[in-house]
Formats: sequence, structure tokens, C-alpha cells
Amino acid sequence: MDAETISSLLAGLPVPQVRFFDSVGSTNDEALAWAAENGADGCLVIADLQTRGRGRFSRRWVTRPGAALAFSLILRPSGEEQRHLGFFSALGALAICQALEEVPGLAPQIKWPNDVLLQRRKASGILVEAAWAGEQLEGIVVGIGLNVTAAAVPPEDELLFPATSVEEAAGQPVDRQLLLRSILQALFGWRARIGTEEFLQAWQNHLAFRGEWVQIEEGGASGEIVTGQVMGLDASGSLLLRSAENKLISITAGDVHLRLMN
Ligand code: BTN
Repeated sequence: MDAETISSLLAGLPVPQVRFFDSVGSTNDEALAWAAENGADGCLVIADLQTRGRGRFSRRWVTRPGAALAFSLILRPSGEEQRHLGFFSALGALAICQALEEVPGLAPQIKWPNDVLLQRRKASGILVEAAWAGEQLEGIVVGIGLNVTAAAVPPEDELLFPATSVEEAAGQPVDRQLLLRSILQALFGWRARIGTEEFLQAWQNHLAFRGEWVQIEEGGASGEIVTGQVMGLDASGSLLLRSAENKLISITAGDVHLRLMN
């Protein structure tokens, strides 16, 4: 891979510039720095290997060479889009699902709020970060990591949730570059509909663990644990659980961990 090949692969998509690294700390860090300079909407940072890839909750995200997709897209949300900032990580998840659905045999699902699962194992994670200049939103960076080959999957004892790769789930080789194009194409397509009923419906249709019992652990100081059966999403994208007392509980995305109960 190189920047030129990727730019021509993405011809026709609103990606004005690409920065490609054989090896980089974190594509999100590069994209945040680029956004703080003058990186335009749609600029893309992509790397074959990350040495300091980051996940949610400051976890490490491992990207091995030749095995994964690791990229970060700079977006400069319009005034209207800024009303839906909370939906941008779901936008990434939905785009990945749509792209993976083009691969025969795959039925991707979203582990709320935004991990993408294949066969109930995590194949992709999304880290959305904002670049602020004081009170002013400069832009956001949508960072996507996707395990493409089996070599991308960390050993089981290093994982909090079981993981897999696209090729393991599909049972056949899958072209990393075509996958990149499909994800970005889907992302720009859904971006035009972010926060709409259609968007929420598509997110909901991909929701994993429907009807199953899960535990939600609130992060931060409280560490409170809520248990319930997954019912769906509300209009703001919050997760709806039904408790053992038959009460409907709404969980707001943010500093929360979802676990399956068994
Ligand atoms: C998660 O599941 O916790 C989110 C993982 C996000 C990983 C991607 S890989 C590309 C981009 N660069 C990073 O450092 N992180 C994101």
C-alpha cells in the first residue's frame, strides 16, 4: 500500500488527501494533529502498522502489518451534523457492517454502542475523538480498526472480549483495499442520513444480543452495574434494557462497558 495507490482506489469519494504510513504511533494522533493544522473534511490517515494504537477507555489496540485496516478520517461536521455528534461512532459501525455484508456469508452485528462483531466475536473497533480550539469544534476524527486476516487477532489471554477477523469468519481471503473503499463509501452514504429515522433503524437492525441478558458497567467513579435484557435503541441511540423487575432502563453511550451474561 502507498498513498498514491490508496488515492486512486478511493477515486470518486470525497477524500481530498491521503497520508499513508508503513508504521506510525496512532493514526488517530496523526489525524488529530492534521485537523489542528488545516486537514480538510474527508482527509484520511492510514497505516499498515501502529505502534501505539489506542482503543476506547485508553486500551491498547494492536495493528499488525499486512493483517488489518487501521485508519482515521478527519470530518468537519456542519452545524446540522453537530446536533448529532453522538452518532458519529455508530456511523463508523454502520459503514463497516454495510461493507462486510458485501462479503458472502457474513452477518455483522453491532455490540452497542459501536463494536462490530462477526459470529459474536469482535472484528472491529471505532474510536471517535474531537479536536477543539477552545470552545470551538475544529473537527472530529473517526478512527477505525478492523481485523482482516487471522494474524490481526491478538491471543485470547490478552482480550477482554473474544475476537475474530473478517477472513476467519468468511472462510476465504478478502481484499483489504476493496474493503477500505467499501467502508468509506458506506460511511459517506450514511453520513448524509446521520441521526435520521432510517439511520437509527439500520443501527437497531444490526444490534447484537437482542433479547439476551447483559450487564452494563458504568465507568468513572460510580462503577455501577446494571443488568437487563436488550430491547433495542431509543431515538437518541441510548440502549434500552428491561430489568428483572420489568422496568425499562435507558443507558446513554459514553463511559460504559457491555458484557454478556451467561
Ligand atoms: C476500541 O474498540 O476500543 C476502538 C479501537 C479503535 C482502533 C483504531 S485503529 C485506527 C485508529 N487509530 C488508533 O489509535 N485507534 C483507532
